[in-house]
Amino acid sequence: MENTISDLKKTASRIIVEGGHPICGELKLQGSKNAALPMLIASILNKGITRLKNCPDIRDVHDILHLLEEIGCKTEREKDSVIIDATNLTTYEISEELARKTRGSFVMLGALLSRKKRAKIPYPGGCPIGTRPVDIHLKALEKIGMELLGNADGKVADAVFKKKDNVTVRLSYPSVGATENCIFASVLGEGRVVLKNCAREPEIEDLCLMLNSMGADISGVGTAVLCIKGVKKLHDVEWNVSGDRIVAGTYMVAALISDGSITLRGVPIGQIKNEIDIFAKVGAAVTMWDDVLHVRRGRCGKKLSAAGDIITKPYPGFPTDMQSQIMSMLAFSDGRSIIKENIFENRFMIVDELVKMGADITVSGKKAIIQGTGRLCGAELIAKDLRGGAALVLAALGAEGSSLIGGCSHIKRGYENFVYNLKELGASITESV
Ligand code: UD1
Repeated sequence: MENTISDLKKTASRIIVEGGHPICGELKLQGSKNAALPMLIASILNKGITRLKNCPDIRDVHDILHLLEEIGCKTEREKDSVIIDATNLTTYEISEELARKTRGSFVMLGALLSRKKRAKIPYPGGCPIGTRPVDIHLKALEKIGMELLGNADGKVADAVFKKKDNVTVRLSYPSVGATENCIFASVLGEGRVVLKNCAREPEIEDLCLMLNSMGADISGVGTAVLCIKGVKKLHDVEWNVSGDRIVAGTYMVAALISDGSITLRGVPIGQIKNEIDIFAKVGAAVTMWDDVLHVRRGRCGKKLSAAGDIITKPYPGFPTDMQSQIMSMLAFSDGRSIIKENIFENRFMIVDELVKMGADITVSGKKAIIQGTGRLCGAELIAKDLRGGAALVLAALGAEGSSLIGGCSHIKRGYENFVYNLKELGASITESV
């Protein structure tokens, strides 16, 4: 549904930014959303307690916790930890209302099948960034032993499960969600599953390490081939969610776009090599030690340079989740860059908004050509998705004058205290809900 600016002014959360204030200071990075969500769901494989430390306090996490409660888990937050007691699951069914709130819920299919041998989960449907089919999930789960029951309305995956003994499953594409679903379906019960062409995102590696520390037997962790020997049961675990690589990149852009300087703590530095290369190309000075990263422009007041060609790809390629934020930064640069979005078909939604601010960006199919204009001006903008929303706030930080960004509730899905943190770091920013 399209929202007009006046609708958004009336109804949705909005952020007002007065540009031109450098983002300076230090920040402890939040835990990773994309790691935490499947880890929360992994808790249902264990008839017991899972404690996730450094679990981000964001809307997607709240939504998954509601889903876990709906199937009988008890959940509790203690400071930065979330505790899930999955001793008694009362149902294998997820309500449509809750499932629609977060796409991450679809990997409950594999987890519920593993634990309950039955699952009834609404199909997630499309979202603003793309149609997001689940054919790869379903095909792979069927190979492992899932059988879909009558599917009259096509809205709900209603399935039973009898795990096969020894199977090899090759994913036609290294889908993150499908890899997670397959891992969940393979961890419990007799039989060995070899998963080929798996996603290699660091969040998958972390999930496997966590499951192994719960008693699972997964080898090949971190590679494209996972060998999973089923075990009878898992045991309680306390696990630390690593820092969010996408949030790290977002704050780095905030500092660069506003000609400030930021020190981030708790950064998974090994996971953001592509981003660091791009920041170096545009003229940033990045220093790193342990899990600390400092970034600023190479020379204060100097314009950012172009970045050449950037192509989003499955990890270890450049992440689609950082594409919008980088686009905002390149709109301020002094030169021409090209971004090719290979993962999602509708992920250039911020282009029209940046153009309102004076950016020179043209889209041709999967490619966006960004001719940096050196400066942008504040405008009335609409956030249409999570990362795009954050990217518009970043553009507003560097722009001349004030911007009003409607639809900012999207940002809360993935960023903890975004407005508060930016304000603490020197931004002139306010939010009204
Ligand atoms: C994707 C990103 C992931 C990011 C996450 C959250 C990739 C490869 N994945 O994971 O890094 O953290 O969004 O924003 O960058 N597809 C199908 N059929 C399927 C499943 C996927 O055609 O059954 C297609 C999708 O439409 C998309 C691509 O495969 O074009 C990648 O999808 P997938 O990795 O499954 O998406 P997410 O798990 O959401």
